[in-house]
Amino acid sequence: MDFKAIVDPRSRGPSGCAVFGVFEGGTLGESGRLNGKIGGVVSKLHAAGDFAGKAGDSLLVTRTAGSRAARTLLVGLGPKSAFARKQYRKSIATAAHALAKTGAVDATFYLAADAHPDLDMQYRARIVAEVMRGQLYKIPDLKTSKKPKAPRLKLIRVAVADAASAKAAQRGLDLGEAIGNGVQLARDLANLPPNICTPTYLATRAQQLSQEFSSIKANILDERQIKALKMGAFLAVTAGSAQPPRLIVCEYMGGGAKKSVICLIGKGITFDSGGISLKDPLAMDEMKFDMSGGATVLGALRAAAELHLPLNIVVIVAACENLPSSTAVKPSDIVTSMSGQTIEILNTDAEGRLVLCDAITYSRRYKPSTVIDVATLTGACVVALGHHLSGLMSNNEALADELEAAGTRADDRAWRMPIGDEYVDQLKSNFADLANIGGREGGACTAASFLWKFAKDLNWAHLDVAGTAWQGGAQKGSTGRPVPLLVDFLINRARGL
Ligand code: BES
Ligand code: MN
Ligand code: ZN
Repeated sequence: MDFKAIVDPRSRGPSGCAVFGVFEGGTLGESGRLNGKIGGVVSKLHAAGDFAGKAGDSLLVTRTAGSRAARTLLVGLGPKSAFARKQYRKSIATAAHALAKTGAVDATFYLAADAHPDLDMQYRARIVAEVMRGQLYKIPDLKTSKKPKAPRLKLIRVAVADAASAKAAQRGLDLGEAIGNGVQLARDLANLPPNICTPTYLATRAQQLSQEFSSIKANILDERQIKALKMGAFLAVTAGSAQPPRLIVCEYMGGGAKKSVICLIGKGITFDSGGISLKDPLAMDEMKFDMSGGATVLGALRAAAELHLPLNIVVIVAACENLPSSTAVKPSDIVTSMSGQTIEILNTDAEGRLVLCDAITYSRRYKPSTVIDVATLTGACVVALGHHLSGLMSNNEALADELEAAGTRADDRAWRMPIGDEYVDQLKSNFADLANIGGREGGACTAASFLWKFAKDLNWAHLDVAGTAWQGGAQKGSTGRPVPLLVDFLINRARGL
């Protein structure tokens, strides 16, 4: 799908479908002020009780007199007084849903004019591309029966009033498209079954990414190299699996040699059975999503490369399986992490922190100015925050603020949670420097505080996306979160330079 900003001040350009916003009460949005003829149709529909402009509602009208659009789609915006970022986003999702059911191959959005005045044109357009891509996403399933129809919609235009706005809108569309591509990569990877999406497969996809973008260099470390690095914690997790582990390292040096590095680290457990501390069978299938952190840092990197962001970014994904076997790590085994700290593994199901602590130590070779790890780390985080917000822990106030703001702007929110010595105390072991679990209480915080012990003197943040990376139930599938948060963060870092 292509996205194009056009100048159409009178909202009357030719189109397969013109999309207008209608506020509750039946008044046309800002866009429609310019188009009296459409206004006539809207007021008639409203008077007849056919369309009230409720948020989430839409109505498709055939060609109207005076319009050069083959169809007109009216999208409910809800009450004008409440119309802000969220409602704007929702109205575009509604339009996407309705458009997909029409025969239109192209559409023109006049909706962007309705967005809250606080939202600049670039942002308005970005949301159009981002939401359209997200709404039209199809899981690459392995069903043999029905062949998925190729989406008809090929071109989305965002109509604006003048050339200056068009320039901002086009940049916004490009940003939204790149975010959409990053989200799609993450969702595609996470949705794959774990017998296909193995650590080796993830590494191959990272290599493909480096072929697609000459600015990305992929370096894949195998088990021998991981051993040579003395990543004892990472190796403990993979010990029970016949699938070889991979440490996936992707470098994107778009910022030049003088700029410091931002490290994005992802948990890449391609299946988490719990190991010897075997999980309950209920919903164990969802543990194929336990590589979502890894998938999303790759997705964010893809977006950064597509946008040529002037930043240096290194992505590190620690990929392996967590399975029980006679060679698996056992509760009470003690391992030495790459940092030298010894860890008593009391529960083999607390494996994420084990692979991440070594990945964090590995990141130090880049002397990074910022390290962010993304992980489906704890069920406790889901208990604390539900499926709405990601957990955010950091040892740096400014970095935490930056990530929190990025999440809000991208509507991919994260909520700050604590780390600290109190939680590290819960990780005391009689036999090693640290235990890998700290009891039921504050599970998300003890897990993050475990990582903090390996991130001392780094500017580090941790995103626990256990509740946000995928959905269960009938809509089961990856969400691609927190790619939007990460890319928004990166865009703003690039802006600040
Ligand atoms: N991948 C899981 C966390 C998880 C669980 C994410 C459920 C989403 C839904 C992680 O590896 C894990 O098993 N964590 C344990 C830690 C515990 C043993 C301290 C958990 O949360 O139960
Ligand atoms: Mn686990
Ligand atoms: Zn896990």
